[in-house]
Amino acid sequence: MADTRQIGDVILDLQNISLAFGGVKALTDISFNVRQHEIRAIIGPNGAGKSSMLNVINGVYHPQHGNIVFHGEKRREMNPTKAARQGIARTFQNIALFKGMTVLDNIMTGRNTKMRSSVLANALWWGPARNEEVAHRAKVEQVIDFLEIQHIRKTPVGRLPYGLQKRVELARALAAEPSMLLLDEPMAGMNVEEKQDMCRFILDVNDQFGTTIVLIEHDMGVVMDISDRVVVLDYGKKIGDGTPDEVKNNPEVIKAYLGTTH
Ligand SMILES: Nc1ncnc2c1ncn2[C@@H]1O[C@H](COP(=O)(O)OP(=O)(O)OP(=O)(O)O)[C@@H](O)[C@H]1O
Ligand SMILES: [Mg+2]
Repeated sequence: MADTRQIGDVILDLQNISLAFGGVKALTDISFNVRQHEIRAIIGPNGAGKSSMLNVINGVYHPQHGNIVFHGEKRREMNPTKAARQGIARTFQNIALFKGMTVLDNIMTGRNTKMRSSVLANALWWGPARNEEVAHRAKVEQVIDFLEIQHIRKTPVGRLPYGLQKRVELARALAAEPSMLLLDEPMAGMNVEEKQDMCRFILDVNDQFGTTIVLIEHDMGVVMDISDRVVVLDYGKKIGDGTPDEVKNNPEVIKAYLGTTH
């Protein structure tokens, strides 16, 4: 399916990334790239360094070695807010939503980095702030329609089943209108039907908005089905990189991860 789509140039190039926490080497000399519009999967056993890699991409962790080139520019200091302003949004392995707030309000928080008016003007519901709020709401409503969650828009997130919470988290990320979306195990803990829905939404986001997607996932059926290219980590090292077929047939990958358990 993937080879009929238009994949563009490299937009994110990770070069020789190493990251350690004290004595723990989370990532060792990892290089790979992400092309415009592709679905790029990162796979590997528990503790392989997958989430750490996403945290490096969106500026939560700062590698001790290596370069990150984003849209042709070598990155200097980075933090999640700056990454968000550059169009990178993400979801988390452990859902990061405000459980007491409604679905709608949670999704609105995804617009934060796009808001220009001051907090005071917003509080007074004054002038440009008012127009801005209306525009933000309209965007959020579009995302709600897209992900088919109109029926739960006023429900506090904590009352929703897990699968729907994951979908709300995707909605919050999409509300930022990202050009690159980082998804950390978006289907973990879901039943088959929920996984199928999530797969469809990821493919639709990629297809309709042209969003580049970097995806961590343990379900190999899903990964091999929807990814354009797959990078494989094991104990913080890269052991494979290529198309799903190449990776599936890579002896080192089979030995370390795919084996007989997947
Ligand atoms: N903030 C941190 N402080 C200390 N060690 C960390 C930190 N974050 C990650 N690590 C360590 O780095 C290594 C890689 O962890 P990471 O969470 O990136 O793995 P993962 O591939 O996402 O695993 P999983 O499939 O279980 O989610 C592990 O040894 C982990 O304990
Ligand atoms: Mg992880």
